[in-house]
Amino acid sequence: MIKEQMNKIYSSIDLDNIPWNIETPPNILKDLISSAKLSPCKIIELGCGAGNYVRYFSKMGFDVTGVDISEKAIEIARELAQKAGVTCEFIAADALGDMSEIKSKYDFIYDLELLHHIFPEDRNKYIENVHKLLTSQGRYMSVCFSEASTQFGGVGKYRKTPIGTVLYFSSEEEIELLFGRLFHVVELKLVDIRGKHAVHKAIYALMKRKNG
Ligand SMILES: C[S@@+](CC[C@H](N)C(=O)[O-])C[C@H]1O[C@@H](n2cnc3c(N)ncnc32)[C@H](O)[C@@H]1O
Repeated sequence: MIKEQMNKIYSSIDLDNIPWNIETPPNILKDLISSAKLSPCKIIELGCGAGNYVRYFSKMGFDVTGVDISEKAIEIARELAQKAGVTCEFIAADALGDMSEIKSKYDFIYDLELLHHIFPEDRNKYIENVHKLLTSQGRYMSVCFSEASTQFGGVGKYRKTPIGTVLYFSSEEEIELLFGRLFHVVELKLVDIRGKHAVHKAIYALMKRKNG
């Protein structure tokens, strides 16, 4: 259902009007590089949409792959990368599936506002997939809507957006508990993310893979 919904959004709404589609990378991504927390390596973005940040990391010297459940998003991402003359890979795949489409392991995985599309009952499967795709020393960064955000009605764990998607708003405790099973949580904090229409509160988590 999310796949059909996202294909419809990417097919019928101009990129300029898709609320999350912002070409300039958010500070939290730029800071990873400027603070030297992350330097060129093999990375993957899960839920990459039009691939804006995949292109950004590629230009910064990373070997980058973008994955999205929407084939239409992947088609757009490939076109934009080609137009920009950027080398990167895009794969259409469900991050809740068996991920057999993805053959490599990655040093760094990130998702930027994908997790709030994944509801609690599916989250363990998702983080198992992330864990499986990481090298043994791999790290993972996740950013999702916080329940402290006043967006979309301001209250409630599940909130409907004007374009019809339903998002799950997490608490920091939930995120720590979820990730703690398979990752050492290195950093967990509330951050402000600039949206198209307003700034919103999100939970940022940086983690290291647990082994064994
Ligand atoms: C809010 S958008 C963020 C896109 C991109 N990260 C950005 O910041 O521009 C979430 C993206 O996750 C994708 N998505 C949702 N559920 C997914 C799943 N189960 N597997 C892979 N991608 C998914 C959607 O198609 C959408 O492109």
